[in-house]
Parts: sequence; structure tokens; C-alpha cells
Amino acid sequence: MTARILVLPGDGVGPEICREATRVLEALQRDHGLDVELEEDLVGGAAYEATGEPLPAETLEKARGADAVLFGAVGGAQWDELPRELRPESGLLQLRSELGLFANLRPAMLYPQLAHASTLRHEVVAGLDLMIVRELTGGIYFGQPRSTRTDTHGRRQAVNTMLYTEGEIERIARVGFDIARRRNKRLCSVDKANVLEVSQLWRDVVNEVGQEYPDVELSHMYVDNAAMQLVRAPKQFDTIVTGNLFGDILSDIAAMLTGSIGMLPSAALDEAGRGMYEPVHGSAPDIAGQGVVNPLATILSVAMMLRHSLHRQDLAERVEHAVGDALDRGLRTRDIMDDEKQVASTGEMGGAVIDMLQ
Ligand code: IPM
Ligand code: MG
Repeated sequence: MTARILVLPGDGVGPEICREATRVLEALQRDHGLDVELEEDLVGGAAYEATGEPLPAETLEKARGADAVLFGAVGGAQWDELPRELRPESGLLQLRSELGLFANLRPAMLYPQLAHASTLRHEVVAGLDLMIVRELTGGIYFGQPRSTRTDTHGRRQAVNTMLYTEGEIERIARVGFDIARRRNKRLCSVDKANVLEVSQLWRDVVNEVGQEYPDVELSHMYVDNAAMQLVRAPKQFDTIVTGNLFGDILSDIAAMLTGSIGMLPSAALDEAGRGMYEPVHGSAPDIAGQGVVNPLATILSVAMMLRHSLHRQDLAERVEHAVGDALDRGLRTRDIMDDEKQVASTGEMGGAVIDMLQ
């Protein structure tokens, strides 16, 4: 059956990286029997400019009907003064929430070819391979009440609510355990149970679910310590499971361990494994439109799509190997550049991966 893929390029560098990822999908379709149908639509600031909304109803409908969504990036300074619900980021958060994409997988893997690109010493990061499982549709990002208001003296205050139900914790814990089981069977749950009730519940429920996974070694860590351990000795981690806000922060740290956030893909999955795939790096308005952005995070997101939504493990591996081969050939975009290598444009990097697919 033909799988339907919706491509949402969005803003900033989004269109450039999605163009390369789309070329990869088309090459797989042409030469490797991938049965897909691609469609494109608007999201984020681009959608706001065209329709007045960062997530038009038409885009949401198409996303609901798709087997997988490839998402570029959203956001830019020109939209930062808009009311929150009209900002590009709201389009992304609404998509995650409306599609029930509660499980966010953010792998951080160091390609041996890029060991020099990390700001950490080589021996600290060499061979790094960790997976962050971030809860994506709950916690303080979505908790009610939330508001900005004034007190009786006219002084401003603002409130957000970090709320998790046991059902939400249980289902993300299961994803964490299942993934750890397929990796090195070690799961570290990150919380702030020494201070927050919501984290104590998190810890209790993760322990309960853990009873069903005696083969997975479970540990717990406070988030402040986890941030420190990630830069001190990142290879102690195999799989991390954590809430929405902590996962947002820790995944940026993990990204930088690999040298460039320009290399990191992600998947956001619902209960049925349907998903949205996006690079972790965001819209990078400062380099947009120059043909210099690294397309590999988005191309690796296509690999995750092939694995998790299209059930083509074989093609996922083919894409991942092609990325390694393109790096072996010495091609580097600016973000992962070192002296002896050849500077590649976005299109040259994408083209090299496509050549290596053969
Ligand atoms: C991410 C981003 C988003 C988030 C923003 C753009 C809303 O930082 O995907 O990590 O905070 O989740
Ligand atoms: Mg983030």
C-alpha cells in the first residue's frame, strides 16, 4: 500500500533541508522500491503569512490523513511579538498535541568522522550512542491553568502548571523500557523528585512499570545532576526517559555532545507508531536562504521515518550508511567543518548522500 507522506517545510532553513530530504525520498522511490506519495503544505510563520494561522485546518487535516509527516522547522524574529497562539511555535505544539505524538525519540550518536567537531574531549564522546525519550504532549508545556494576570495591586504575575497523570507517565515509561530493551537494556529516568510532587509521581509510576521489565536495569537521576553528568561522562547513559521540559533542555545538551546540532534527527510517535519526523535544530534564521545549512539531520529524520512508520528497516540503514559514506568522502557543511575537508553546500551534501545510496 502506498504510504502518504506530508512534508511541512515551515520557516527559516526549513524549505532548504526539506528539499534535500525530499530528494532522498524520491531517490528511494525511483531506485529502491519505496512506495510513497508526497504532498507538501504550510505550517508556522509561512502559514501565518498566507492564512493568518500557524496551523491551518487544511494542514492539520492532511497531517491526520498521512502515514508520516516530515517537518522542517518553524519560527523567526518577525513573528515573536504575535500573540502566543499565533506564533509559529504554536503550530508545532498544536500538531504534536492534536496528533497525539506523545513519544519523542531523540538519539544522539557521534559519527566517528566528526569526533573533532565536539567541544568536549575526544575520549569523553568517542563512541557516544544515547537515546533520549522525551514526553511530548504533557507536562508544563500543556498544563492548565496557564496565564499572565495582575494582582490586586496591579502587579503582574504569570503561572504555568506542570501536570502529569499516571496514564501519561505510564505510556511514556513503556516506550522508554521498550526502547532500552532493544538497546543496551539500561534506562535512566530523569526527574526532580526531591522538590516536585509531579516528579515523585513520575518516579513512582516509572518504578511500577519497571516491574514488568526485569531485564532492563532502571535508575533514577535528578535533572540538575543529569545535565552535569551529560557533559561529564555522557557514555554512562544508554536510554533516558524524561518529561517534556527536562527533555527539551537535556536533548539540546546531548545534541552538542555530537559536535553539531545539525546532525540530529528526531521522531515524535503516537500510540500506533504513526509519526512526525523533524531535525532537532530549528529554523536558524541567521543562515536561512544561503544554501549552507546542514541537511543531514533532516535526512537522518527520513531514516527514522523509514524505520518507525514505513517499516523499511533496510532502507533506514541504507540512508544511515549513505550519510556515513558522504562524510567519509570528506564533504562537510560549515557547522561540521574542519581544515582539511571540503566545504559543501546544502545541495552538495544532499546530492552526495543520494549518490551514496546506490
Ligand atoms: C524542540 C523545540 C520546541 C520545544 C520549540 C520550538 C517549541 O525547542 O523541539 O525542542 O520546545 O519543544
Ligand atoms: Mg528544544
